[in-house]
Amino acid sequence: MALALSLSLSLSLLLVGGVVVRAQPFDYPTAKPSTRWANTDASLPHHVTYADGSVARAALLRLNPAGYGPSYAFGFFCTNHQAPPCAEFLLAVAVVYCNSGGLMTSVVAGIPQVVWSANRGQPVGEGASAELTAAGDLVLRSATGAVVWSSGTAGRSVAAMAVTRDGNLVLLDARNATVWQSFDHPTDALLVGQSLRAGARLVANSSAANWSASRLYLTVADDSLSAYVDAKPPQRYYHLGFSKAAGAYATYANGSLAVFDPAAAPAASTPPLATIQLPEVGAGTVQYMRLEHDGHLRLYEWNPAGWAPVFDVLRLFPDDCAFPTVCGAYGVCTDMQCSCPDAANFRAVDFRRPNRGCVPTAPVACGGPPARLVSLPGLAYFNDPATSLKALERVSDAACRKACLDECRCAAAQFVYGADAGDGFCYLQSEVLSMETSRPEVVHYNSTMHLKVRATRRPSAGF
Ligand SMILES: *[C@@H]1O[C@H](CO)[C@@H](O)[C@H](O)[C@H]1NC(C)=O
Ligand SMILES: *[C@@H]1O[C@H](CO)[C@@H](O)[C@H](O)[C@H]1NC(C)=O
Ligand SMILES: *[C@@H]1O[C@H](CO)[C@@H](O)[C@H](O)[C@H]1NC(C)=O
Ligand SMILES: *[C@@H]1O[C@H](CO)[C@@H](O)[C@H](O)[C@H]1NC(C)=O
Ligand SMILES: *[C@@H]1O[C@H](CO)[C@@H](O)[C@H](O)[C@H]1NC(C)=O
Repeated sequence: MALALSLSLSLSLLLVGGVVVRAQPFDYPTAKPSTRWANTDASLPHHVTYADGSVARAALLRLNPAGYGPSYAFGFFCTNHQAPPCAEFLLAVAVVYCNSGGLMTSVVAGIPQVVWSANRGQPVGEGASAELTAAGDLVLRSATGAVVWSSGTAGRSVAAMAVTRDGNLVLLDARNATVWQSFDHPTDALLVGQSLRAGARLVANSSAANWSASRLYLTVADDSLSAYVDAKPPQRYYHLGFSKAAGAYATYANGSLAVFDPAAAPAASTPPLATIQLPEVGAGTVQYMRLEHDGHLRLYEWNPAGWAPVFDVLRLFPDDCAFPTVCGAYGVCTDMQCSCPDAANFRAVDFRRPNRGCVPTAPVACGGPPARLVSLPGLAYFNDPATSLKALERVSDAACRKACLDECRCAAAQFVYGADAGDGFCYLQSEVLSMETSRPEVVHYNSTMHLKVRATRRPSAGF
């Protein structure tokens, strides 16, 4: 089947009117203003339908320097193929597999890996168009002509557009200076050679099937590389601290994700502020990392059998139960199994899918009816104390519970203590995501979760 598909593609490209011509050169990584591509098979002759229904229509192609292998394409991609035919397209840069004829092939293992997209969460359909205008703007329009996205570079002397060897989509001026680049506007993925600039975010998809941005993001601040859930306030689930440097940025290189101080000497001569060691990129292959909907930052690498996750970049303490959405809201993670905290007060969202989380049977909201707390000894919470709604030091368990009941925004309080429950730390949370069964022997503290629910006729029941 793969052979038949690639064969018919080559024929449609190579045999025109009985004369063998190439509709496209092997490698066509650049374009000049003004160029327009419509999202149709006719406008983009180099198109492939993959075994899983995904569709790639290449406008630009940067072939692997080896002449074949994983390569970078810019064009229209549809990988959300729940109901064929594929109808929702992204204007994107994707890694595609090309044969030695420069044709996208490997329809089973080589499903396009979208590493940047212009219109995430706002897919376009058949007949949409992308145009590098005479004024130098890269514009995406829907089939009806509505502007969906633009690079905002009109009037900035854009003379060319190119996909670089690193997979960066760049708009260049006449002196080849970069006016705009996709590397500065990451979506959920980073390529080798790409930096996450100060304040920029990688934002995970909502789910495997939903490409909209979720609330999980990774960002670099002046003193840390951190991953958060965008709650009010944001809850931090990963933290790599380093000595403060204004404008610190992280660069993904062959073998490392390292943080640098922009004020320091060039990266080659100054040690990074912090480094996460990564598996090296094999010669001739391609790697990328993606922040995924489960909060993991996974490194993928192409091997002859296809794309494989080769490394989990964010290591959480004490284990993967500390990922914020592992068991859904109010779910409890124990040895990677999910359950609901307390059958009397919580029920599963979906009994067949325990990782979907739980809901209080009597939920409570600010300004709503009176609340009480359900106390669950032995449960812990992932959020960094520094990003809790409020942190109280050296307090008793009773004072901790009172603090939560007195603060309308408090949805739960985590009480952390040693041998003495009269002297501990209290962290108020504005929202409850996944909890974990506490492992005192590993973390060296005891932990109790106090969850706020609506007070019943017997408010003393849980408090
Ligand atoms: C810009 O880059 C292209 C491709 O590398 C090259 O052909 C061209 O000469 C460069 N132009 C200038 C002004 O450096
Ligand atoms: C996330 O969305 C992108 C499109 O932005 C899609 O190509 C990719 O397959 C999705 N990733 C996951 C892990 O679901
Ligand atoms: C996709 O996710 C977004 C954000 O989480 C949500 O608002 C939207 O309803 C989801 N779409 C579908 C089709 O589930
Ligand atoms: C990455 O670095 C290793 C070790 O220096 C080297 O063998 C490998 O070829 C490099 N990969 C690429 C794609 O350059
Ligand atoms: C947890 O609390 C118990 C007493 O309730 C105490 O004996 C134990 O040492 C505490 N564990 C840790 C790790 O502090």
